[in-house]
Amino acid sequence: MRTDSSPTTIFRKDYTPPAYLVDTVELGFDLAPARTVVANRITLRQNPDAASHDIVLHGEEIELVQVRLNGQQLSERDYELSHATLTIRNAPAEVVLEIETLCAPVENTTLSGLYVSNGNFFTQCEAEGFRRITFFPDRPDVMARYTVMLRADKAAYPVLLSNGNLVEQGELGDGRHYAKWEDPFKKPSYLFALVAAKLVCQEEQFKLADGREVLLQVWVEEGNLDKTDYAMQSLKNSIRWDEQRFGLELDLDRFMIVAVGDFNMGAMENKGLNIFNTKFVLANPRTATDIDYAGIEAVVGHEYFHNWTGNRVTCRDWFQLSLKEGLTVFRDQEFSADMIGTDSGRAVTRIDQVRTLRQAQFPEDAGPMSHPVRPDSFVEINNFYTVTVYEKGAEVVRMYQTLLGRDGFRKGMDLYFERHDGQAVTCDDFRAAMADANGRDLTQFERWYSQAGTPVVTARTRYDAVKRNFDIILSQRGQPEQQPFHIPVAVGLLGANGKDLPLTLENGKHEKGAKGDETTVVLELTGQEQIFRFRNVDERPTPSILRDFSAPVILEYDYTDDELLHLFSQDSDPVNRWEAGQRLAMERLLKLTKQVAAHGANNLKLDSTFINAMRSVLTDEKLDAAFRELALILPSETIVAEQMDVVDPQAIHTARQFMRRTIGTALQTELLAQYHANQTPGDYSPDALSAGKRALKNLCLSYLMVAPELAELKLAQQQFENASNMTDRSAALVSMIHSGAESGPYLKAFYDDFDNEALVIDKWFAMQASAPTTNVAAVRKLMQHPAFTLKTPNRARALIFNFTNANPSQFHAADGSAYEFWAEFVIKLDAINPQVAARLARAMDRWRRYAPALQAKMKQALEKVARRKLSNDVSEVITKALAN
Ligand code: TRP
Ligand code: ZN
Repeated sequence: MRTDSSPTTIFRKDYTPPAYLVDTVELGFDLAPARTVVANRITLRQNPDAASHDIVLHGEEIELVQVRLNGQQLSERDYELSHATLTIRNAPAEVVLEIETLCAPVENTTLSGLYVSNGNFFTQCEAEGFRRITFFPDRPDVMARYTVMLRADKAAYPVLLSNGNLVEQGELGDGRHYAKWEDPFKKPSYLFALVAAKLVCQEEQFKLADGREVLLQVWVEEGNLDKTDYAMQSLKNSIRWDEQRFGLELDLDRFMIVAVGDFNMGAMENKGLNIFNTKFVLANPRTATDIDYAGIEAVVGHEYFHNWTGNRVTCRDWFQLSLKEGLTVFRDQEFSADMIGTDSGRAVTRIDQVRTLRQAQFPEDAGPMSHPVRPDSFVEINNFYTVTVYEKGAEVVRMYQTLLGRDGFRKGMDLYFERHDGQAVTCDDFRAAMADANGRDLTQFERWYSQAGTPVVTARTRYDAVKRNFDIILSQRGQPEQQPFHIPVAVGLLGANGKDLPLTLENGKHEKGAKGDETTVVLELTGQEQIFRFRNVDERPTPSILRDFSAPVILEYDYTDDELLHLFSQDSDPVNRWEAGQRLAMERLLKLTKQVAAHGANNLKLDSTFINAMRSVLTDEKLDAAFRELALILPSETIVAEQMDVVDPQAIHTARQFMRRTIGTALQTELLAQYHANQTPGDYSPDALSAGKRALKNLCLSYLMVAPELAELKLAQQQFENASNMTDRSAALVSMIHSGAESGPYLKAFYDDFDNEALVIDKWFAMQASAPTTNVAAVRKLMQHPAFTLKTPNRARALIFNFTNANPSQFHAADGSAYEFWAEFVIKLDAINPQVAARLARAMDRWRRYAPALQAKMKQALEKVARRKLSNDVSEVITKALAN
């Protein structure tokens, strides 16, 4: 009855509206791990905008028991059943379908559809998981109202949840019970969710801006109730923030967050019933780091904000994914920044965003999986939940705000909701709302959605001392055949005293700058090359270009070391201040790497100018600790690799370690002093100020531990033993592992303390996997550990992904043994969970950039995987990697 299919490519241009619309969906679940019965009653009506009379329902990995159309049982002659669809041809204009199917949640290791995790039932329907639960037109432009009846054993599954409001519950006899849920809002099928589980919750009544009381709940396993406070607090903060910043209110009487240990991604915005990876819910000072706390705040916010940007207004088709994801990431970024509140705190979050883009998005944009923010085609949509769609998508949204100002952006958002509430729309609709609300022509801006790759902006300058003119000549280049982008370039000019000069721009618009001050202007580069002239400039200034990282581009400008040092010590824009330090470091890293590759690691030198600059920042008490920490971190090995024509991972590692060791030695006194000055005694608090101090203190420790003497080792050991929180404890342990000193007893102590805390055991695997002292043999050995499993994505990612993605010098070991390891586990994981396997597959994306000997071994590994029978997910990634 069902046939195999080979991967097919789906194109955006082929979009057609659905032939039938669904008004209501009534779902009945008889839940049992091995055999769940799903009864589905849907009312459909022909779409006036479509001509076809064929009802096409999607269905995968489910067994059809029976179908009734308008009360009549259908026989196999009345429909066509393929491996992926059920089609009823020439249907009447109004149809009631009743469909009964079976599925086996306990056997579902893909974590898509209905599955079992630690004995409990959960669903994950985005993007195309609903079709693994029942037959349905499983596409986001079909929005319907849902009623859900859940039946299950009461002792095993005391909690029965679904979207919307609980309208009825009771006993069924024979130990079973039921709950009936109604979602008052129409929604696409990808936002459906159910949970049937043994869980407990922290709950609270919360008053909305309009005075309405709502019930907030955070559901977790019994032992985790001591780790729900921060998620609850973050949820309340999110609700307030969306009311204040965007005038958007919670539209339900009840909002639930549920944590699950087996989850493919971070979390999911199901209407009224957000389902979260435990990693983004559970935290207390003992188990979670500052970074974990920040992640919880961001993800709780993200999923909550989807209620408007994604749920109330959703996507017409999956090519528009960034419509909801780019916008919602931007919103969660702004939320996190506003929660810190200070300008310097905002800048620190901005720097983190730039680091993510360079670490992950620029490489993606330059590699075989490169795609525009709004892709034109895909084989498997799950492969397009990418840093490009999410983080570059957020940059695109941010550029609207930079171009239109905060108020203009808000006007655009208001118009977007006014026009499209309850609809499934496109990225063009969003852009039109921004343009129309502000009377602006944003036609050219569309290219940010349709053209892939990272544009390069080149700047040149000239100063005319007689006329007192300063010109900035900006030019741009994209990929061959591309049209120019509309690029906001925020600029300021520094005088010799380090102060911003007043700006008089002769041509182009003198808009208020990204930060709303007068010493930053946003230059709008729309042509291939443009000249911007500043008048009344009394001295040759140092230009600070692309302030606040105003566009996701690569900026080329021939800065001298002196100019960079000037910016690094004085720029009023913290992002460019940080950036100047990164440029100084990168120049040196590249030079040293070349030297190592050519002559080995002897006779390397690091100039005192650079070391002194680092010293100045480290000891500048006027700067936030969080900023100083970021300024002192050298560009990562991955980011250095992106700057090289032929990547030599060992040479990069050696060069970077040399720089770190040299800084550690030269600044030993200052590092130690800052280590002591930035302690955070007393009760742990994850606030930005305290977290920044811990970050700086632990960075000092890591520098001191590059080549530790006894005193430094003692320091780390003491910190490990006396730490009152996970941030300090794990940082101490990481510094020991990386130093190469004997850390076995500490690793054991750490494990024994936390063997009941899955998320901490993930850290235990992760810190070993990413240490440059851990080779592939050691990773294989860790896989033998009883706590290791491929079936839980968090665990697999902790060990395998941290090795392949965060340990480049070992992953690229000359003998290719780690590539073989990669191939083996891509294949093994693919049989369990294709989505996770496809993510691992991408570790080889940049294989063509390595030296020929490594390249050949990487190619062999890729071909080994390619010869297997693969999921669409992995097949797409491998095929694209091997294509020319
Ligand atoms: N929409 C989710 C988010 O942005 C992403 C997501 C969660 C997802 N789970 C998934 C995407 C599974 C694909 C598959 O937060
Ligand atoms: Zn999202």
